[in-house]
Amino acid sequence: MNKLKLTLFSFLLGASVSFASDPADEGMWLPSLIGKNEAQMKKQGFKLTAKDIYDINNASLKDAIVRMGGGFCTGEIVSDKGLLFTNHHCGYDAIATLSTPNDNILDNGFWAKSNAEERPIEGLYIDILVRMEDVTDQILPKLEGLSEKERAAKVNQLGNELSQKATDGTAYNASVKEFAKGNAYYLFVFEKFSDIRLVGTPPQSIGKYGGDTDNWEWPRHTGDFSVFRIYANKDNKGADYSKDNIPYKPKKFLPISLKGIKPGDFAMVFGFPGRTNRYETSMGIKLAIDKVNPGIIKNRDIRLKAWKEEMDKDVATKLALASEYASIANYWKYFIGQTQQLVRLKVFDQKVALENQFRTWAKGKPAYEDIFDQWQVAYASYEPYATHSTYLNQGIVGAHIAALALPMAVAEEQLKDPAKAQGITERFRSRGEEFFKSFNLPSDQKIVAQTLLAFYNDIPKDQHPAIIKEILNKFSAGTPEESFKKFAQEMYLTSVFTDKNRFNKFLDSPQYETLSNDWAFKYFADFRKNYISKYAKYNADFQEIDKKLSRLYIKGLSEMNPSLVEYPDANSTLRVSYGNVQDYDPRDGVHYNYKTTITGVMEKYKPGDGEFDLPKNFLELYKNKDFGQYAENGDVTVGFITNNDITGGNSGSPVINAKGELIGLAFDGNWEAMSGDIVFDKKYKRCINVDIRYVLWCIEKLGGSDLVKELKINK
Ligand code: ARG
Repeated sequence: MNKLKLTLFSFLLGASVSFASDPADEGMWLPSLIGKNEAQMKKQGFKLTAKDIYDINNASLKDAIVRMGGGFCTGEIVSDKGLLFTNHHCGYDAIATLSTPNDNILDNGFWAKSNAEERPIEGLYIDILVRMEDVTDQILPKLEGLSEKERAAKVNQLGNELSQKATDGTAYNASVKEFAKGNAYYLFVFEKFSDIRLVGTPPQSIGKYGGDTDNWEWPRHTGDFSVFRIYANKDNKGADYSKDNIPYKPKKFLPISLKGIKPGDFAMVFGFPGRTNRYETSMGIKLAIDKVNPGIIKNRDIRLKAWKEEMDKDVATKLALASEYASIANYWKYFIGQTQQLVRLKVFDQKVALENQFRTWAKGKPAYEDIFDQWQVAYASYEPYATHSTYLNQGIVGAHIAALALPMAVAEEQLKDPAKAQGITERFRSRGEEFFKSFNLPSDQKIVAQTLLAFYNDIPKDQHPAIIKEILNKFSAGTPEESFKKFAQEMYLTSVFTDKNRFNKFLDSPQYETLSNDWAFKYFADFRKNYISKYAKYNADFQEIDKKLSRLYIKGLSEMNPSLVEYPDANSTLRVSYGNVQDYDPRDGVHYNYKTTITGVMEKYKPGDGEFDLPKNFLELYKNKDFGQYAENGDVTVGFITNNDITGGNSGSPVINAKGELIGLAFDGNWEAMSGDIVFDKKYKRCINVDIRYVLWCIEKLGGSDLVKELKINK
């Protein structure tokens, strides 16, 4: 056991062995173990120490890093009054939610002139890490001999006990996270702050400049930042919103450097990467390329087009759908890019090569030798059903009315009992109120017709729910496409879920009969029943065996060659990525510079365009070269790239220089390495950042705010 443990998971070893031979750009390192990378970091230019990054006894950089809303983004504290920087696309939902046609801060931008003008955001919270602890030894030995299901339950139970113990008598919260598919476990203790207020945002013509056209691509000219403030109670502790709360006084905040950057400069990104899948198998990659990704893309495309058509018609609809549109579009393009780059960078072949090496090594080792045979069997039985759930999740239930109709379908059995029905439906009243505030019928109706057609065409007929036949019979209109259109029209004309009055009337006297005659109810209930009773098990069985085999594979790899398992996959826990400012050549004959400038913003400017328009005062300021202290050679740097290893969830993370100063905010990955969540490609993978000088220029010059005075600026 002990010997095994020593060779296992070099990422777990606090020892000073570093396997990193090249400058470590790849790697999402655990901050509590960053000591083992210190020498390498210094070689790459870092001037501070591991203790400056993570220290539980003294203030350290980690105290300035916040996890947003449970992990969708990262933010950093930049003043002693709890001022928080993050990306514009991280604040997008809050900004869109606060916007109305008459007070459209999404389009116009907003800067609070005093604390009193800062706007509370319902539901937004942040967590700051207090400490983390390796609890593998308290969990793994207790899992021996358990089935996968028992294992999951045990981990859950032990995790809860450890979390409880770690937070007893404190106001903190804790959780235990699994690493490397269950080869290691860490406990994380957080302090939660639920009073977060919007301080300011540039107009989206700056914050989302380039839109979906430029998204996931370099060269980039987006001012992707927004500004919030953390409020605490009078004892400086995390608390729910109260008008009596005061700005949080942090243990640590990041000073800002205006000195600028050049190629080769040290860069560290500190944040909460969401998920990578660096140990994905060749079989998983093939399934993604051939089936799952195309299914995701197709269904998202349907939804995006239907929404866009309506959003272009009026501002209220645009605001209502803006945030969901942005997030669906973001990963629509992500999967297009991922598929393209998996192919271009021959990731399948790379994986096969590694797997062959592993098979050879595993011969005669009973624990490992038949992993890939088992995997092949698992994939073969799962593959025929793999896209069924994709088309359900990305398409069928992408229709908004599913949000009401599906939970109703879940409660179907109880709803048959008149004595229980009223109690259940009553819970839907406030949900309905919220729902109909932003419901857009025409796009939703189109989405039902078109995602149904996609399902009908692409999912094997023997997997179809019975209702499809019924629809084709009752609404027969020549082609399936026309029939589905007719069906959707009838559904939206008559269902209780597509009209507020009909919905409330139904809640007033909920008859099961109403539902059993309601097309929307029947539709979602039947799709659900069909999936749950016949196909969910293929998914669950596959996930279970896939996880078990992945766990063994990672363990085996670490024995075969520890340098293949230096750091664990991202899992929404705090990580350090270090690297350098670095340019690249995207393809033969083309060079991409390491930075972009405000002059480049002007070059892309297209008046009146939805993605490349600019605010009037921007043009004015540019004409007058009013760049203030942010200018460098008569221009302002807007974006720059580094070779840091980041992924979704890292958005908003600080880019920190060798001295621990903030030089930018990470906000994107680049097109040529969109397969990066699966394999980090050293030649192509870059991290796209907005330069802090552009951020401050946008606040001071464009926004006319004097917030910059609150920051600690090193010139
Ligand atoms: N691709 C970025 C990320 O996932 C989000 C960019 C948001 N901008 C946009 N145009 N949708 O972090």
